[in-house]
Amino acid sequence: MRRPLVAGNWKMHGTCASIKQLLTELTEQALPLSVDVAVFPSLIHLQTVGAQVASSNIVIGAQDCAVQLEEGALTGETSALQLKDIGCSMVLIGHSERRQLQDETDRVICRKFIAAQAAGLTPVLCVGETLEEREAGQAQATVQRQVDAVLLELGVDVLKNAVIAYEPVWAIGTGLTATPEQAQEIHAQIRAHVAKYSASVAQGLRILYGGSVKAANAAELFAQADIDGGLVGGASLNAKEFGAICRAAGN
Ligand code: PGA
Repeated sequence: MRRPLVAGNWKMHGTCASIKQLLTELTEQALPLSVDVAVFPSLIHLQTVGAQVASSNIVIGAQDCAVQLEEGALTGETSALQLKDIGCSMVLIGHSERRQLQDETDRVICRKFIAAQAAGLTPVLCVGETLEEREAGQAQATVQRQVDAVLLELGVDVLKNAVIAYEPVWAIGTGLTATPEQAQEIHAQIRAHVAKYSASVAQGLRILYGGSVKAANAAELFAQADIDGGLVGGASLNAKEFGAICRAAGN
């Protein structure tokens, strides 16, 4: 039985004041104990958020890390060890906004994945097809290529301590959610693909869905056999919505 995970990706949002308010409203709510809850604030807010959630079950993660593990001369970058040092336990790797806007390649993403695990962070590997790829019948092939960039390079065992987030690019921030059936289809394909290398790793692997998850559609998505929680962008900036999504994962 996989334990659900609901992760809030705050992206480049928030001020000190708005984030304090968001966390106050979030920690006041009853969040289900059967669900892992994580938030991914901007780098500059990580420590404040870490302090504010310290007495709750919420853990913190970063939205990216450097390809290089150790500290060094890499202006503007943050190493996975530095993230671990300030209390992160997870890190997003290969979010589509970074793949598209920062030209991150599968090779770079694989190096970041290695750095994350070497630092003791759990990488959340984000994969997903664009609308053009879906319309061309390439959704499965695209996602498989993105998973293979790590799986074939590093071996299946690295997925024992990782999470995969399937986020169709056309559903991110657009209000267009994949239907539960569309999402389940890809999630099942990812799991079956991993199972070719190890049935037990595939069985234990948490695969999150991301792309316009909100309180109104979360329960249906999370009811699917291979959907183990969500990576939530926009709706995670609203404490009531995010709390309701966490509760939907616990039901
Ligand atoms: P969204 O973002 O929930 O706003 O669609 C999801 C994500 O990019 O992780």
